[in-house]
Amino acid sequence: MKVSSQTVTRVRTGVGVVALLSATSLGCSSTEASHADPGAGTGGSAGSPSTSTGGGGPVGSGAGTAGLNGGTGGSSATGGVENGGGGQGPMGGGAGALSGGGSEQGGAAGTAAGGAGRSGAGGMGQSGAGGMGEPTTPTPPMGWASWNSFGGTVKYSIIKTQADAMVSSGLKDAGYRYVNIDEGWWQGTRDSAGNITIDESEWPGGMKAAADYIHSLGLKAGIYTDAGKNGCGYYYPTGRPAAPGSGSEGHYPQDFLAFSQWGFDFVKVDWCGGDNEKLDAQTAYKGIASAIDAATKQTGRPLALSVCDWGNQNPWNWAPALSTMWRTSGDIIYYGGTADMSKVLSNFDSAQHATAQSPGHYNDPDMLIVGMTGFSGAQNRTHLALWAISGAPFLAGNNLATMNADTKSVFTNAEVIAIDQDPLAKQGVKVSDDQGKQVYNKVLTGTLRRAVLLLNRSTSAASIAVRFADIGLGATAAVRNIWTAQDLGSQSTSYAATVPAQDSVLLLVTGM
Ligand code: GLA
Repeated sequence: MKVSSQTVTRVRTGVGVVALLSATSLGCSSTEASHADPGAGTGGSAGSPSTSTGGGGPVGSGAGTAGLNGGTGGSSATGGVENGGGGQGPMGGGAGALSGGGSEQGGAAGTAAGGAGRSGAGGMGQSGAGGMGEPTTPTPPMGWASWNSFGGTVKYSIIKTQADAMVSSGLKDAGYRYVNIDEGWWQGTRDSAGNITIDESEWPGGMKAAADYIHSLGLKAGIYTDAGKNGCGYYYPTGRPAAPGSGSEGHYPQDFLAFSQWGFDFVKVDWCGGDNEKLDAQTAYKGIASAIDAATKQTGRPLALSVCDWGNQNPWNWAPALSTMWRTSGDIIYYGGTADMSKVLSNFDSAQHATAQSPGHYNDPDMLIVGMTGFSGAQNRTHLALWAISGAPFLAGNNLATMNADTKSVFTNAEVIAIDQDPLAKQGVKVSDDQGKQVYNKVLTGTLRRAVLLLNRSTSAASIAVRFADIGLGATAAVRNIWTAQDLGSQSTSYAATVPAQDSVLLLVTGM
């Protein structure tokens, strides 16, 4: 489709994406075979239990269980729990339940991170390849993505600075791994054989050099494309001129093989072209997942798929079988926008599809705006707590090189991370709501352990109580305030806290 950029009104409004280009419907040209079941993989041996301090007991045993579609899960590597997580091994690869650091090269034990131990040798960790087939990310991906702070202007020097900052800021040590290059790295150019061509003035050595640099820091690399012919950078403002052809439709096998050959571990596939062409999302993403499987078979490198159709075609019904994560709503901020708590809350609400989520497969309420201009420390804490209680991916979107100490401490809070990364990967659910004074409960690994969020959406401070019966506990429970790191002792029947307007209190509640 050839449309000059002058005929396109490139705006976005509201929560949805509004395309004002009058388009010819092109239909779906994808003819790839359906997504193949992954083959068998073999998990590693038991990981070391963690003796972490964040609230769980130290065990971490349990044989791995078979993955959903084959593959033998690795033995559990979950310290800080009483029952062990078991090798979850979703969709193929033998995945230790939470083998964090041990995943990097399939080798050494990882580091402990608070309540849910992240240690363990052997079992494959995030994106570990236990066998051919779908990549495994047994806990929600953690990392950073370029879009929120840099828009379409992303280039190698920015990625290098941010990757360096992920290490020097301590985020890497806290468990953050992915450095994801979003829209803007490619302006839709191809050679005569259809291979993507790169502007080496911005990406010296091409995209492989960027992935290599990220890997040299012990991090993982992510890249971005669109399911349609034209990417978002054709339709909407990104900080660069409109880029026709910046999508992968018609080139799925070729493009995903290239991403894998360049060394990328993660790919986000957007939906601007797909939406404009009125493609069927399930069909398109199935073709993409199939191309990724084929690429992985050839390179041996798994590529985690991030579906980004903004919840338009109910991805929670079909994306768990195809992907690691799927967006459930529009963007928290569009290009040039500013942080807004009401959007954070509405994205959180749109992501509530608890039954779709399981280890390796996550609802994605969007990249974080924690630490971005206009957000206070309290708002940052509530934002991250909402994502943690959801078991959502933690993909920072702020400028890691310039963040202040408070933002850093929010991102690296080991107990919050442990709640997000709990190996059961459950999404917290709402258990009570009194005119916007809400209680959310997330069942954690271990015995009678719950993360609880007291959320006050009203405009004045209020006392909000969690009743232990509502979260499946008996009369007595130990309560800990996570952000203030205070043990509040043993409480009877319920626990109430005063929560400021538009704020929250995050608790660990352990039944007795
Ligand atoms: C869409 C996605 C965003 C971002 C932009 C890039 O809006 O939802 O996350 O990738 O495209 O243009």
